[in-house]
Amino acid sequence: MVSLNMERKWVFPLVISSLICMFLLVTSFNMGLVSSVYRINSLFSIFPAHISMNQRKPGYAESKINQGALPPPPGPTIPRFAYLVSGSKGDLEKLWRTLHALYHPRNQYVVHLDLEAPADERLALASRIKNHTIFSKVGNVYMITKANMVTYRGPTMVANTLHACAILLKRSKDWDWFINLSASDYPLVTQDDLLYAFSALNRNLNFIEHTSQLGWKADKRAMPLIIDPGLYMSTKSDVFLATPRRTLPTAFKLFTGSAWTVLSHSFVEFCVWGWDNLPRTLLMYYTNFVSSPEDKMIRSNAAFARKFKQDDPVLDTIDKDLLGRASRSFTPGAWCSGKPKCSEVGDFNKIKPGPGAQRLRQLIAALAIKANLGQDQCK
Ligand SMILES: *[C@@H]1O[C@H](CO)[C@@H](O)[C@H](O)[C@H]1NC(C)=O
Ligand SMILES: *[C@@H]1O[C@H](CO)[C@@H](O)[C@H](O)[C@H]1NC(C)=O
Repeated sequence: MVSLNMERKWVFPLVISSLICMFLLVTSFNMGLVSSVYRINSLFSIFPAHISMNQRKPGYAESKINQGALPPPPGPTIPRFAYLVSGSKGDLEKLWRTLHALYHPRNQYVVHLDLEAPADERLALASRIKNHTIFSKVGNVYMITKANMVTYRGPTMVANTLHACAILLKRSKDWDWFINLSASDYPLVTQDDLLYAFSALNRNLNFIEHTSQLGWKADKRAMPLIIDPGLYMSTKSDVFLATPRRTLPTAFKLFTGSAWTVLSHSFVEFCVWGWDNLPRTLLMYYTNFVSSPEDKMIRSNAAFARKFKQDDPVLDTIDKDLLGRASRSFTPGAWCSGKPKCSEVGDFNKIKPGPGAQRLRQLIAALAIKANLGQDQCK
């Protein structure tokens, strides 16, 4: 499965990571909710990487509450994921395929084609979902029909992600991690593998690649002021620069990292409900912040990869060799029954991990151990 010629943008935009790190810091320091933060070099490209756990600094009153208050180890229950798969003009077929490759009746899915996609493309997606036997029966695929305008490098991207999170929280309380993907992303492992690999994990873990070493980004990303026309225009145009520049914040610290994260339910709740004012403050700060994922080479052991064109032959290879997925069908899992396979939902509390699952699990467990030792903290 190596060198499938995929390009990935594993470097996260400054924006979301800083948001996340700040949120995590606050949650673990002040809210006493998240006991640890893990950093993965990219969940997706990774599993061999660094994780981090928030340091409990002495001096915080809340740290007393936190002391030794790690949640009990999770039982062997199989988790559930909540996915956002988003696309734009011309992404219908890609999105449809990715959705099929990712589908599992345990999970929740929100799909979104942004306002740039023509109305008939969005209508086609809506009617496909509505008309789909399994989707309509299980009811776990939801399309945001009131589409948002999304500018790739702008804050409307963050707003759209938060919108999807809010919908996922509203539709179901019953999920453990949020994963956002684009229509040109594709899984390299089956959902059974992924569910298995995450089942022994503490549900409060977040997988966020991050660093506070901003390097050139301090000057080129953090200080320029941008305007995102997606905030007030109904047609798409790129972000533009405004003057003068601003200084680096002193009220909070900026982090940079990859745009691909796996976020815990409790953390997403904190970001969306924002009982502390920090999420809103940061969102406003980021309204003028350019975020741009930079390319990085693919690494092995990835759970997801990108960036694929429609009907990319590499996808056929992934379907055949890694997912065992037949064209137009779902990635097979233990839930599949009926004829043809996966045309009916069997027992979705059963999973059948494949050959790669054990390795994936060990890698994730190693990350969790590192985090518990307090390595690679968000600081
Ligand atoms: C809905 O499904 C039926 C049967 O599965 C099919 O014949 C029809 O073309 C579908 N309609 C749309 C809009 O996809
Ligand atoms: C996930 O959401 C963040 C925040 O909106 C965004 O910056 C990032 O690009 C998204 N990732 C994908 C794969 O869409």
